Amino acid sequence: MSSSLSRPSYSSSSRTSSPFFPNHSSLINGGTRRSLSFLSASPQELCLRSKRKSVQSSVVLQDGAVVVTNSSPIEKLKDGLLSVPSQEVVAELGGGEHESTVSITVVGASGDLAKKKIFPALFALYYEGCLPEHFTIYGYARSKMTDGELRHMVSKTLTCRIDKRANCGEKMEEFLKRCFYHTGQYDSQEHFVALNKKLKEHEGGRLSNRLFYLSIPPNIFVDAVKCASSSASSLSGWTRVIVEKPFGRDSKTSAALTNSLKHYLEEDQIFRIDHYLGKELVENLSVLRFSNLIFEPLWSRQYIQNVQFIFSEDFGTEGRGGYFDHYGIIRDIMQNHLLQILALFAMETPVSLDAEDIRNEKVKVLRSMRPIQLEDVVIGQYKGTTTKGGVTYPSYTDDKTVPKDSLTPTFAAAALFIDNARWDGVPFLMKAGKALHTRSAEIRVQFRHVPGNLYNRNSGGTNLDRTTNELVIRVQPDEGIYLKINNKVPGLGMRLDQSHLNLLYSARYSKEIPDAYERLLLDAIEGERRLFIRSDELDAAWALFTPLLKEIEEKKMIPELYPYGSRGPVGAHYLAAKHNVQWGDF
Ligand code: BG6
Repeated sequence: MSSSLSRPSYSSSSRTSSPFFPNHSSLINGGTRRSLSFLSASPQELCLRSKRKSVQSSVVLQDGAVVVTNSSPIEKLKDGLLSVPSQEVVAELGGGEHESTVSITVVGASGDLAKKKIFPALFALYYEGCLPEHFTIYGYARSKMTDGELRHMVSKTLTCRIDKRANCGEKMEEFLKRCFYHTGQYDSQEHFVALNKKLKEHEGGRLSNRLFYLSIPPNIFVDAVKCASSSASSLSGWTRVIVEKPFGRDSKTSAALTNSLKHYLEEDQIFRIDHYLGKELVENLSVLRFSNLIFEPLWSRQYIQNVQFIFSEDFGTEGRGGYFDHYGIIRDIMQNHLLQILALFAMETPVSLDAEDIRNEKVKVLRSMRPIQLEDVVIGQYKGTTTKGGVTYPSYTDDKTVPKDSLTPTFAAAALFIDNARWDGVPFLMKAGKALHTRSAEIRVQFRHVPGNLYNRNSGGTNLDRTTNELVIRVQPDEGIYLKINNKVPGLGMRLDQSHLNLLYSARYSKEIPDAYERLLLDAIEGERRLFIRSDELDAAWALFTPLLKEIEEKKMIPELYPYGSRGPVGAHYLAAKHNVQWGDF
């Protein structure tokens, strides 16, 4: 398979080029080579993601807004200073890129992920003008379907953002016209040859770039990659493959999968997705830390007492028991989503915002982690319950696809440690569970208490050693960031309470937040790898969790039962208490 072509730099997208990092903000005039990804049909909806390395830029703050001065028309556009691109800008963008085309094949098109996430995300990108002028989308799956049937299926899950309802129907129609379907087996060279033929027809002799999204079970990844690579990869442009977890079940199976994939693909063609990295608030973590003077100096064992990564869902495995039982919550959520966030949270300042620099720092964190001790882990499994109102919820083992005697955890809590100078001794607590009382994902940073606090004796009953500052980054729902501070209750007396400095996204920003899959798909199309997992990151993540999983499974550890809809097993509280911590969400 040919690897990505003509991309001297894929690292400085408009998102990554921040005025806070002058050396990495993009600048058109006087920069290196021009390599803008593409220009959409509609100028107003221009989706600009410059690929150029910067040379210099200057920053002026006006009424709290950041403005890049002496900037080219393109930068002005990115900074919102120009709303419609002039002829000059269009010329700078380079008309030549109109002659290339992107073909996106969703392998496993009839599955849930494709229907609920991938097609809607592609449509959102189309709506925003972020797809190139020439693109084609192919659904590929075993079921027999016509193009019309695929379009009908896809149309049921497409939505427009609340603020973009105006010409929604029209846009959907245009988008659906670019969607096609090809029936085929995942391991059939012949069927991929036929797909290749159809893709070529649509590409019409243009430089072709091809993206395959594998939305299929892991046991057929390699077959599909083999066929796509030998029979349907691009001969003139790049070919990339997005793969979804599970990337194996442990170090050994993950390494075997990586090796097999590398028979057919170069590492830079493999885009391992962890959709949590595409979530707005996760992406904002580094901005918060590295572009605000007030946070970075506090980001260490000196000021932080503990950090918590909490994932909870208020529904069970309904319908996914077969898959889930083979993996369990530690593999499903902790080893990837929560660990990825932890690595981003705890990494040292990267040399730049380039994908490799960021991923190098993440790997260092993962490799500095202390092996997880069994006594620092609590596992649980939900059991059925009937509410006072008479509603009955099932046990995990009531799921027909789950063995009655399954010991698979649907809940886990763990204390992890990073043995490096910055984080020595700081507990990083993780908690993940299904069928809990609420759906949420958040990061909680609990700071140490104020030494010799003047107000401890004089706080009107508040125990200030308990009410320490806490920074909460709420990934979902109701995205927001708030800081708990101690505050004087207004009045003549001296009474303190805990209040929030609150940044609620829905109140501050009127734009709807894009789904994680939109960001990640766009990055894959643009060859931006920052939010994808490199193979050594994956190895390090498995190296951390494999011994623990082996021990839990070999010892046949019995999970603590917790009622469906509850806050999880009590053991999680003892675990936190053992490390002198209280769960912030309790
Ligand atoms: C997936 C897990 O990776 O993430 C699922 O396999 C989980 O079990 C899902 O439900 C949660 O994603 P989100 O974006 O809905 O929080």
